[in-house]
Amino acid sequence: MTQDDFKIEKLGKCTLDSPVRDMFFVDDNELVTYETNPAAILKNHPIGFERAGARKKIFHDPAWSKAAILTAGGLCPGLNDVIRALVLALQKYGVPVIYGIRYGYRGLNPEHGLEPLLLTPEIVDGIHHDGGTILGSSRGEEKTEVIVDTLARMNINILFCIGGDGTARGAHAIVQEIKRRKLSISVITIPKTIDNDISFIDQSFGFATAVMEAEKVISCAHVEAKGAYNGVGLVKVMGRDSGWIAAFTTLANPFVNYCLVPEEDFQLEKGSHALLPNLVERLAKKHHAVILVAEGAGQELFKKKSIRRDASGNILKDDIGVLLKSEITRYMKKNGIDVTVKYFDPGYEIRSVCAVGEDAVFCNLLANAAVQAAMAGRTDMIVGHWAGNFTHVPIPLATSARKKIPLDSTLWSCVKTTVCF
Ligand code: F6P
Repeated sequence: MTQDDFKIEKLGKCTLDSPVRDMFFVDDNELVTYETNPAAILKNHPIGFERAGARKKIFHDPAWSKAAILTAGGLCPGLNDVIRALVLALQKYGVPVIYGIRYGYRGLNPEHGLEPLLLTPEIVDGIHHDGGTILGSSRGEEKTEVIVDTLARMNINILFCIGGDGTARGAHAIVQEIKRRKLSISVITIPKTIDNDISFIDQSFGFATAVMEAEKVISCAHVEAKGAYNGVGLVKVMGRDSGWIAAFTTLANPFVNYCLVPEEDFQLEKGSHALLPNLVERLAKKHHAVILVAEGAGQELFKKKSIRRDASGNILKDDIGVLLKSEITRYMKKNGIDVTVKYFDPGYEIRSVCAVGEDAVFCNLLANAAVQAAMAGRTDMIVGHWAGNFTHVPIPLATSARKKIPLDSTLWSCVKTTVCF
């Protein structure tokens, strides 16, 4: 990787004094180093992210600006906190018009007849206490040319897209069309996914709250498991391609005895990492067990006939929770072991709540950084967070690969110390 991979697109020179004076300003040359290990920084020339934060000089004239906000993809705790904080931060700069685009990119295609909402501090007051998004969300693509036609027609010069990697890819395509037409529109993405799988960002908003919610379900699964002789509490959480929720939940609530994630293969009956014989041993000793499985784990156990995709193009996973429930029951019966499996599938419950605690704080800080980046004419970027700092991450870099749990990491080794498999 070189510094070029971290280069943030700018619409032009920042020539206007920022109207926001009561702030700490960040110099354009400030970096947040990618390597966090000092030895590695010394060895390789320090490369890194542009530091997020308010600039003394800005690009867009606030008085002439019109901003738009949309939320796309699956729901996530904190969406309303981000919307609210964007509106307040834009207002602080003096941006007079803020549109709330309905149902993601769909709302930018006039064919669907979805009128935008006019967002004001009054409209967004108190919305942080509600889960979901006041704007609605959707998956699926809309024609980029049509989206840019709409932005141009509405004179929007700042677009905030709150979403995951699919939303960010859509935002990148919009930027390409904006550039082709030589328009001056900033497109800024705010990373939302409870899967926490966006690369070059240490955490996405909503993730911490989702872990807190999942952790509660583990306690219920433990109670159910202990309430039966040879009881198994089986919990499936979201995590299509990465097992971050499962891994963090295991550490947050170590009642979990088995943590199954997409990053680590396992077998059922035979093999070097076979689940069922291990479960027999555990039940013989303790007579109860809690299994936490991420939805993308164990997909190699299915005989797939065809690949199914959702409207965003993501491969839909086969139901590993249902498979495990029936395989555990079948195997134990075959071996003459009495077992009771209680299956919990709290997928949507953990993401439809509102963000709490530090997660809500994080939403506010990300939204402020997004507005500051937009006002300074940045585009084609995601607001990130890296080693304690807020950053600007080019969309192509952040979407270059999905972030997965490294199996040689401290995190995973800590999970392995907690569980028995
Ligand atoms: O946002 C990512 C995610 O949480 C995945 O883990 C999950 O597969 C997906 O959303 C499900 O969302 P929906 O059912 O809304 O498409």
